[in-house]
Amino acid sequence: MAYFYRDGKLMIGANSVTDPAVAVESVLPTPWRKPIYVYDLDDVERRYQAMNRALDGVKHTIHYAMKANSNPLLLGHFAQLGAGVDTVSAGEITRALAAKVPPKKIIFSGVAKTKAEIEFALTAGIKQINVESTAELERIASIARKLGLKADVAFRLNPDVNPQTHPYITTGFRENKFGMDESFLPQLFSILKSEQQWLNPRGLTMHIGSLLFDLEVFREAIEKTVAVHRRFQAHGFNLDRLDIGGGLGIRYETDDTTDEFAMIEAYGRMAREAVTSLGGEVELLTEPGRILVGRSGLLVTEVQYTKATSAKLFAIVDSGMHHLLRPALYSAKHRVLPLSLPGTSSSHIYDVVGPICESSDFLAKDVRLGELYQGSLLGIADAGAYGFAMASCYNSHELPDEIFVSDGRVIS
Ligand code: LLP
Repeated sequence: MAYFYRDGKLMIGANSVTDPAVAVESVLPTPWRKPIYVYDLDDVERRYQAMNRALDGVKHTIHYAMKANSNPLLLGHFAQLGAGVDTVSAGEITRALAAKVPPKKIIFSGVAKTKAEIEFALTAGIKQINVESTAELERIASIARKLGLKADVAFRLNPDVNPQTHPYITTGFRENKFGMDESFLPQLFSILKSEQQWLNPRGLTMHIGSLLFDLEVFREAIEKTVAVHRRFQAHGFNLDRLDIGGGLGIRYETDDTTDEFAMIEAYGRMAREAVTSLGGEVELLTEPGRILVGRSGLLVTEVQYTKATSAKLFAIVDSGMHHLLRPALYSAKHRVLPLSLPGTSSSHIYDVVGPICESSDFLAKDVRLGELYQGSLLGIADAGAYGFAMASCYNSHELPDEIFVSDGRVIS
């Protein structure tokens, strides 16, 4: 567990006798300057290893979806662990290379790859480009021809499943802009044949959405992908990779993570079955983001004022939607963890709101917390994924700081 209370203090580190844990307050820079993301690097590693174990027995690579959090130290750590990355821009590829992720462990996804980005990716010699449309495939072929090299490509399927998540983060439903359905196949086959000198078809890829819990929808999508893989084989394209995307969710409403580890195992079983059904010679790729890093991060913010109106009691803090957009954008509910629990039992229902001049600027609504004061420190939980990565300088505020803790020590 990344964060837990001991003697009224919020601690960071594993809640076990052998792993050292320290009070979050003790790792913060002093005096307080601005909001800060604190990450438990050991929690990330535990999750990465759990997924690795779940995929044991089949040839596989975990491509961390770095859009979730592209901090250089975190990327460097993933690289050291042997992970690959899933990227969606030349910027992400650049960051991954700088963090020493080998080019042959980088895959490039995304619907709108520009000519310059494709040229950059091909020149860098990355593992594969995940192609989202026939027009993109033609563009890749012409750039590969110009560069005189052969592009390793995979094809993103849109399996048309509805994973029942927030509509903004479903991606494998027929109404979404992502991927291709089976009607694209004849055209794909024909481009692959006519451009065979420049295109090397390696596999299929899919990603049906984010914050998913229903593994049956995954199963359905994987089965559809496996069926299309066979159609490629029947047309003489011997694909040697199967990329099943990311999307496993975390339960923001609770600190109980048992479910998540069980899901990682079930997902691993499902993935192994898929590979076995294809004869076992296929390399399995996954693109997890949130499940690896989401739980590790805590956004710490300081209460500036409390304000009681006739309708609400506000805790006005120095962070907000510009640092953690998820509550405003997806109505996400992150738990609010005071860094010190008050000695008294009196509590109130607060809206935790920020400095931005919009009423969408809230971090949490209607949360029961002990009495808050100017200077009280609050941690917004489970903010390791899509937190800092989506932060902006809106209203010309500064970005938050970031620090990593491992083995009870700050390592950045
Ligand atoms: N692969 C592809 C192609 C993706 O588009 C994504 C996420 C992932 C992998 C990783 O998905 P994950 O394992 O993290 O669920 N900002 C939203 C999430 C957007 C996800 C976009 N794509 C949020 O804060 O909930």
